[in-house]
Amino acid sequence: MRAHLLNDATAERYRRSVTEGVERVADRIATTRKPFSGVTPDVLAPVVDAVDLDRPLGDASAALDELERVYLRDAVYFHHPRYLAHLNCPVVIPALLGEAVLSAVNSSLDTWDQSAGGTLIERKLIDWTTARIGLGAGADGVFTSGGTQSNLQALLLAREEAKSDEPTKLRVFASECSHFSVQKSATLLGLGPDAVVSVPCDRDKRMQTVALAAELERCRAEGLTPMAVVATAGTTDFGSIDPLPEIAALCEQYDTWLHVDAAYGCGLLASPTRRALLSGIEHADSVTVDYHKSFFQPVSSSAVLVRDGATLRHATYHADYLNPRRTIEERIPNQVDKSLQTTRRFDALKLWMTLRVMGADGIGELFDEVCDLAAEGWQLLAADPRYDVVVEPSLSTLVFRYIPERITSPSEIDRANLHARKALFASGEAVVAGTSVGGRQYLKFTLLNPETTVRDIAAVLDLIAGHAEQYLGENLVHAS
Ligand SMILES: Cc1ncc(COP(=O)(O)O)c(C=O)c1O
Repeated sequence: MRAHLLNDATAERYRRSVTEGVERVADRIATTRKPFSGVTPDVLAPVVDAVDLDRPLGDASAALDELERVYLRDAVYFHHPRYLAHLNCPVVIPALLGEAVLSAVNSSLDTWDQSAGGTLIERKLIDWTTARIGLGAGADGVFTSGGTQSNLQALLLAREEAKSDEPTKLRVFASECSHFSVQKSATLLGLGPDAVVSVPCDRDKRMQTVALAAELERCRAEGLTPMAVVATAGTTDFGSIDPLPEIAALCEQYDTWLHVDAAYGCGLLASPTRRALLSGIEHADSVTVDYHKSFFQPVSSSAVLVRDGATLRHATYHADYLNPRRTIEERIPNQVDKSLQTTRRFDALKLWMTLRVMGADGIGELFDEVCDLAAEGWQLLAADPRYDVVVEPSLSTLVFRYIPERITSPSEIDRANLHARKALFASGEAVVAGTSVGGRQYLKFTLLNPETTVRDIAAVLDLIAGHAEQYLGENLVHAS
């Protein structure tokens, strides 16, 4: 069994095994004709269930053969140009190289004595990101597992900085289009069920600052403490960017922590043409960035950045076995002092390899391409009488709804759109997302693949229309 441990004696075995795995995946990627096979849980579950985990195959090739059946054949492939659903990106090859290196060396980024150079690489990338945001010389941050954790940590710091001994009197303001992790964080932080004040959005799905000002004023008048405002730079559904300068001015006026959730919009930090869309982000006290969304990085790769690095002390705990107090005086760089996690992946290496091979412009140009594509897709949708499209995109999402020519009820249209989404998924020809707008069922394209073309968008719109019409046709027959 020792032959399976990676060490000096098994390096050749490691080389062969990983190469074979890479070959299989590369073959799969090269030959996948659809983003999804359309398999259902009912069909796939028995295949997975049939695997006896107590009877190992002993051989990597056999395990890879099996993996073809239980996973690779039916996975959802984000690299396919007709995967248009969620905030998942195709990944860049330098990052995959980083991923292979980091898991083989297996550094853990909690302490210097488990990572050495890894810590310095992570710190340099944090500095690189805070400089791009413009957070100033005192800024710092740490890589996290994702935007949810980044938002949680940012709000934890905001709660501690609010210095209130009555957590249930703290209020967090976020737009009605903000990510649900804001609400989840508030609950985890013990702020109580009323902690998050939902601020309405304008027609472009951006937080209404007049409403925010009114809510802040009301909060103060009621003797409550405004703990944080969460501005979203790239809402999950619409890619809309809240008016950051105006929100920053209100935070200043009400002495409130400004957190910018740029999980999606962070790709603009590298964009050669669209960086100005993030104007005002430099005023933030904390920022969430998800490199695994708009920097084309494999999951997971995210960071929370703060203007005042000293605020990260709220995540600092000491353990004699790991990071005793004296390590601070000895100036030993232990990232665990800044993180909610202890053992932590060296995700930063993927971004490092990406920047060293492609450069920031290379990434930013890819993100620009998908934003350009969304603008073209919007024109297509706006000119298509079959569709109602919600907002002109700032980033790369399109939210729309099929509207049939025949007269039918709004709820029948809801069902037709829902059916179209499900039927498309079952066919595997394309994968699209869905959401609700004003209580009605809408469909969503999240465009993060520069290989997707306007022709793909047009073709998927035709497929959706076909499925929706089929549903309506069948239901009219049943109704009559
Ligand atoms: C705006 C925004 N914030 C936070 C998150 C959560 O990020 P993660 O899925 O990486 O936890 C998302 C995910 O889609 C998001 O769109």
